[in-house]
Amino acid sequence: MKTLITGGTVVNATGRGLADVLIDGETVAAVLEPGSTLLGFDVAAHVDRVIDARGKYVIPGGIDAHTHMEMPFGGTSASDTFETGTRAAAWGGTTTIVDFVVQYPGENPVDQFALWQDKAAGSCAIDYGFHQILSDVQDSSLDAMDELIAEGVTSFKLFMAYRGVFLSDDGQILRAMQKAATNGAMVMMHAENGSVIDVLVRQALEAGDTAPYFHGTTRPWQAEEEATHRAIMLADLTGAPLYVVHVSAKQAVAQIAAARDRGLNVFGETCPQYLYLSLEEHLGAPGFEGAKWVCSTPLRSRAEGHQDHMWRALRTNDLQLVSTDHCPFCMKGQKEMGLGDFSKIPNGIGSVEHRMDLLYQGVVTGDLTLERWVEICCTTPARMFGMYGRKGVIAPGADGDVVVYDPNGHTSIGVGKTHHMAMDYSAWEGFEVDGHVDTVLSRGEVVVDGGEFLGRAGHGRYVRRDLTQYLV
Ligand code: URP
Ligand code: ZN
Ligand code: ZN
Repeated sequence: MKTLITGGTVVNATGRGLADVLIDGETVAAVLEPGSTLLGFDVAAHVDRVIDARGKYVIPGGIDAHTHMEMPFGGTSASDTFETGTRAAAWGGTTTIVDFVVQYPGENPVDQFALWQDKAAGSCAIDYGFHQILSDVQDSSLDAMDELIAEGVTSFKLFMAYRGVFLSDDGQILRAMQKAATNGAMVMMHAENGSVIDVLVRQALEAGDTAPYFHGTTRPWQAEEEATHRAIMLADLTGAPLYVVHVSAKQAVAQIAAARDRGLNVFGETCPQYLYLSLEEHLGAPGFEGAKWVCSTPLRSRAEGHQDHMWRALRTNDLQLVSTDHCPFCMKGQKEMGLGDFSKIPNGIGSVEHRMDLLYQGVVTGDLTLERWVEICCTTPARMFGMYGRKGVIAPGADGDVVVYDPNGHTSIGVGKTHHMAMDYSAWEGFEVDGHVDTVLSRGEVVVDGGEFLGRAGHGRYVRRDLTQYLV
């Protein structure tokens, strides 16, 4: 099957221009002058399908490098399966996810990887890779890192919070980082001081402060800043690269920026919820409503200016990319487990479908250039996690993962509107945004077009990732 996308403005992280994109089978074959002639040959007349992209942007498929499909967590499981979650991702212009294999204490990471491969195989509508969560750092887990890297799992997430579930102490973090410094793995860090949070949570509950709002106040920015600083110090000590996930506090950004200024291989991601939503308006919603927005790190105070600071940090490259940390739970039967005790609300928000649209608003407001939008949503995730060349760029030889995006379109977000995630509410209900994902191709197959899902479970293929491309 040969497809020609004609008349659009092709946008890569490095620049934009009017061009036609020829996809042959699963791969981009050529980026052509508009009008598509090749050595005097009319290309459009010799392809199977022509997609008219006049007036639209033609961008690399989005890469969401932080999702949790079907994740067992908080006494339940994330409500999107690999099937529903990747379908929703495709609707929103994301053509690759990197999800997390979980090692709970006592489990073998390699066995867990096999388990997660079984869950994803035959289910995904788009391509997928895996990071590995390590929550039991001991000799066998460190040995497993080498085995997993050979399988294309080249990044490992550690937690400084969730004692008894995920938390690694400083010595365990040090050991994992020492290993990463020798095998080239990227260490991803959930940077919150878990000991401090546990005491604050206990004190809040004892004082009768049980509403969702107190999830935010018991995970203060100081706990995020301190843990971010400690993680950076350990990375510096060991020489491991460090990627701080779901950064929400401006003080944590400052730690990352200072480390980068010192020349350290330290990187940071934020998520749409930290750009838009707040402690006061969302976690602080009346009654139990705030449970919809319980996630960790928590939403921060708008009065303190964290949200504006995240946009700024994306512009200045103090933060390098945006993932969703998609970890959806329904209100009914899941979030409501925390009625009367906020600490029992499963932590997570669902956004995999909306990341490209929500970040495009940065282009609309002038906070981001078109190229920076593509860079933080598509190209940097590919480079950070060893996929660039195949993914994250429209160029000959790349996978035919392409989105035709209409800047004059409009997207209404919410349940029953553009919501295809397996959730009974939307964290983004009522958001009306400029721009629209018109057509999505995954390895040359049209999976979304004209408001119709044309993909299928099982089309998505495992992406065996290389080491991060940000290190020499
Ligand atoms: O609240 C969150 N972030 N849930 C998913 C697990 C994690 O820490 O990323
Ligand atoms: Zn986390
Ligand atoms: Zn996460």
